[in-house]
Amino acid sequence: MSIHIGAEPGQISETVLMPGDPLRAEWAAQTFLDDATCVNRVRGMLGYTGTWRGQRVTIHGSGMGMPSLSIYANELIRDFGARTLIRIGSCGAMQERVAMRDLILAMTATTLSTPSRGIFRELNFAPCADFGLLRAAVAAAEAKGVPFHAGGIYSSDVFYDERPDLNDQMVRHGILGVEMEAAELYTLAARHGVRALAVLTVSDHLLTHEALPAQEREQSFGDMVEIALHAAFP
Ligand code: HPA
Repeated sequence: MSIHIGAEPGQISETVLMPGDPLRAEWAAQTFLDDATCVNRVRGMLGYTGTWRGQRVTIHGSGMGMPSLSIYANELIRDFGARTLIRIGSCGAMQERVAMRDLILAMTATTLSTPSRGIFRELNFAPCADFGLLRAAVAAAEAKGVPFHAGGIYSSDVFYDERPDLNDQMVRHGILGVEMEAAELYTLAARHGVRALAVLTVSDHLLTHEALPAQEREQSFGDMVEIALHAAFP
């Protein structure tokens, strides 16, 4: 086990799906995996390993925000040998053409800062998705008929944002949506030579102020899990 993950060696797959919410990890594992077993519950952060179409996969929560995701992604990669990490989460849309429940495939993620700021200092590292995973996710979304957008997102440090002018600049520069984790996931993947992708569904809209009711969130979340699984195992 590692500091924050109570799994035994070998209990975690090389392929890990990472929702922010641990209860979503539990729901996704129970809904989509065969023989899912709980491999972590340290601090209530749930992780499950099972199989999907015969392929071994772990679904493990990341928590909210880049500092939390950084802890779990570091340990999954360094201590458990994870090689493919796919974030599955929600985001707020930042463009008129992006509708509620649409899928956003994050090619890159802009930030003010990430937990990796300390090593980059004045350098603006450009975190990017793994192209093979991105291409497979595009194919899966097209096959499933789920409307999607591929492009840049904003990984913010705050949900309750006191700087709306920053969001305005993101909108102006074509950023598709805002969430709080992808940039650090992509940066860690680059550092450790592994693959990462963020697949997001639009749960709220910053321009129209719409928000998805809980039941519709679940349906969209299910589509997203399936697309992430197809991207991991095309
Ligand atoms: N801001 C930040 N993170 C989010 C949002 C948002 O509006 N929606 C879903 N995750």
